Amino acid sequence: MRFVNKVAIVTGGGGGIGRATAQLFAREGARVTVADIDEAAGRETVRLIEEAGGIAQFCRTDVTSFESVTALVRRTVDAYGRLDIMFNNAGVFGDGRDSVLEMPVEEYHRVVRVNQDGVFYGIKAAAAAMRETGGVIINTASIYAYIVDRRQLPYHASKAAVVAMTKAAALELAKYNIRVVAVAPGMIDTPLVDQWRENEHAWNILKRAHMRGEFGKPEQVAKVVAFLASDDASFVNGHAYFVDDGAAAFKR
Ligand SMILES: NC(=O)c1ccc[n+]([C@@H]2O[C@H](COP(=O)([O-])OP(=O)(O)OC[C@H]3O[C@@H](n4cnc5c(N)ncnc54)[C@H](O)[C@@H]3O)[C@@H](O)[C@H]2O)c1
Repeated sequence: MRFVNKVAIVTGGGGGIGRATAQLFAREGARVTVADIDEAAGRETVRLIEEAGGIAQFCRTDVTSFESVTALVRRTVDAYGRLDIMFNNAGVFGDGRDSVLEMPVEEYHRVVRVNQDGVFYGIKAAAAAMRETGGVIINTASIYAYIVDRRQLPYHASKAAVVAMTKAAALELAKYNIRVVAVAPGMIDTPLVDQWRENEHAWNILKRAHMRGEFGKPEQVAKVVAFLASDDASFVNGHAYFVDDGAAAFKR
């Protein structure tokens, strides 16, 4: 029960990693605002939390809009009185169709708006609510901030930006006792990787990217996020934590 009397926001809370983390925060005592652009998915997370005896509310949020993210933070503070943990986790993957020469500029902006702008807005809005109380901001990066594949340039760019923003924000917000950290997952079995699920060959190649040859589970990322959000990680700041079964550490 590490989060009794704590209030958390999880963006992308209707999805794989976000849902697992929202559930874990609530299970350990936090009151949670589940934020997602997908209302049905976000409300389902709230239902699962309430069914298990936890406290949560849904707030439809589009992280590509600063107004929407500001309203999310305001609604959370109005309902629960404070904000202790902000998990900037909403994200999209590239469509994987084109290399840089053919890629429509719109595809680049689509990915960067959610993964990069969305995290910036989340950091900015959360820090404003935490400046008197302190808090923890956790951003979802990826191993793809560090290693690259073909036809995913916007995703790589946006996740590298998340790592850089984590460092820069941690430095500037330290004086308010706000820690800013990131997680860098390997391939996690969520709807985000659906584009490969039916392709056995591609799926097996992706599995072999990990030292023990399997995808990760959302709950395995959630446990690291909860650790980073807790006082157990009180001296962890400014860095991204790999949750990737060594994927970014070896050459296939
Ligand atoms: N699954 C993986 O292999 C993997 C690996 C590394 C990093 N990540 C990152 O983890 C995070 C969570 O992804 P996931 O794997 O749980 O995928 P997911 O698709 O299950 O969840 C992402 C959630 O974000 C929401 N979302 C998308 N655009 C949004 C917007 N504009 N505003 C608000 N919500 C929005 C979606 O509706 C969805 O519920 C993402 O940032 C992703 O890039 C995932």
